[in-house]
Amino acid sequence: MSTDGSRTARFEPGSLRGELSPPPDKSISHRAAIVGAMSTGKVEVRRYLESADTRSTLRAIEALGAHVEESESPLGGAIDVSIEGVGLRGARGGEPSEPLSIDVGNAGTLMRLLPGWLAGQPAGSWSLAGDDSIARRPVDRITRPLGAMGAELEARDGRLPPLVLSGTALRGIRYELPVASAQVKSCVLLAGLTAEGPTTVVEPVPTRDHTERMLRGAGVRVTARETGTGIAASGRLPGREIVLEPPERVELGAADVPGDLSSAAFALCGALIARRSDVVIEDVGLNPTRVGLLGILNRMGAVIEVVESVAGPEPIGRIRARTSALRGVRVGASEVALAIDELPLIALLGCFAEGATVVSGAEELRHKESDRIDTVVEAIGALGGRIEARPDGFKVEGTGGIDGGTMRSSGDHRLAMLGAVAGMASRDGVEVVGMDACEVSYPGFESDLAALVA
Ligand code: S3P
Repeated sequence: MSTDGSRTARFEPGSLRGELSPPPDKSISHRAAIVGAMSTGKVEVRRYLESADTRSTLRAIEALGAHVEESESPLGGAIDVSIEGVGLRGARGGEPSEPLSIDVGNAGTLMRLLPGWLAGQPAGSWSLAGDDSIARRPVDRITRPLGAMGAELEARDGRLPPLVLSGTALRGIRYELPVASAQVKSCVLLAGLTAEGPTTVVEPVPTRDHTERMLRGAGVRVTARETGTGIAASGRLPGREIVLEPPERVELGAADVPGDLSSAAFALCGALIARRSDVVIEDVGLNPTRVGLLGILNRMGAVIEVVESVAGPEPIGRIRARTSALRGVRVGASEVALAIDELPLIALLGCFAEGATVVSGAEELRHKESDRIDTVVEAIGALGGRIEARPDGFKVEGTGGIDGGTMRSSGDHRLAMLGAVAGMASRDGVEVVGMDACEVSYPGFESDLAALVA
């Protein structure tokens, strides 16, 4: 699909009231498909996210030889998926002279995770490429550790897609992540599955740990311990050292995908800034490595209640959010990884808060579906917000709200959805150019939002 963003949509000021069951988690859906494809025995994934990104992953695993059967799910925006995998070392590939093409579309998670599994296959060659946004996003962050494990791969100009790789024997390594990235961590751990000897990944601050949880559920020995480094120096949360022992086989069996907090975050934050709003988010994932947004909102003075209900492999619960008087906040490096996809919303909330809101240590935002420092500053500036870009984040002056106007999604799903809730909370309404970008993670977003408009 095109993520150029050609469709324009308008969002008028209003209140948000009612209940929302957000679509299934995108990160967990990608992982369930990939781990399902390498599993021995059938894997039933309940509530797989139906979106452009996660469809790319299903198509990719089919190309690799997995058999995928889809059926309807009672939850909107979801499908149930039954996967007959190819086993840990059974991915189908092409010849080195004619690698099998995998189109990842707009999905950065697929682009970064899948090579980890493919690099250690006994044979086969693949070429991974995607849309214009993917073509600009670096892959050297994964080619470096994979190369150290013995992988055979080549990227355009040494750092960009297409990424061409051939399966070969890998050896386990100890890898200290230079940037806190769950995608890179996951790639190295997936490569560790077929490597000789254990693989260790050290992360400077905790990043989302869905891969570790899912692999444990599939019978793989994955241990994690806090390293404690960095606390005294900078007040950071302790980093973690994750060790994976290569298994004989991977057997996921089944996976239940909880609601995506990153998708729910739009209605949640919208409810905080739109007048007379009161929204309850049901069945949403509350994995501690994903809830950085909630800590930041607490500090901003947001009126939110969180109730955790089930502690399965992935904790879930409900969140209630009401219109709140917010104050400005500082968000630093230790929180960035835990709220990375929600930082654009912090910029929007900052416009409504008293005082300044500053996000720093977030240069990773420049490597997302768009350069999310520049595109957020452009979008919020276009709506009348007082925001300035910094090399590693942004600074917003609270002015009591935003006027509204026209903004571009820049083909980025999270910018498009931010524009919609900005419109609800604005004085004059917001027109979003490129609303179709939301198909990437949340195709039902506009109808879900409309159902909450009171
Ligand atoms: C993701 C990790 C994050 C996040 C992305 C999904 C994942 O990227 O921004 O939307 O599923 O692992 P990084 O880990 O590279 O920061």
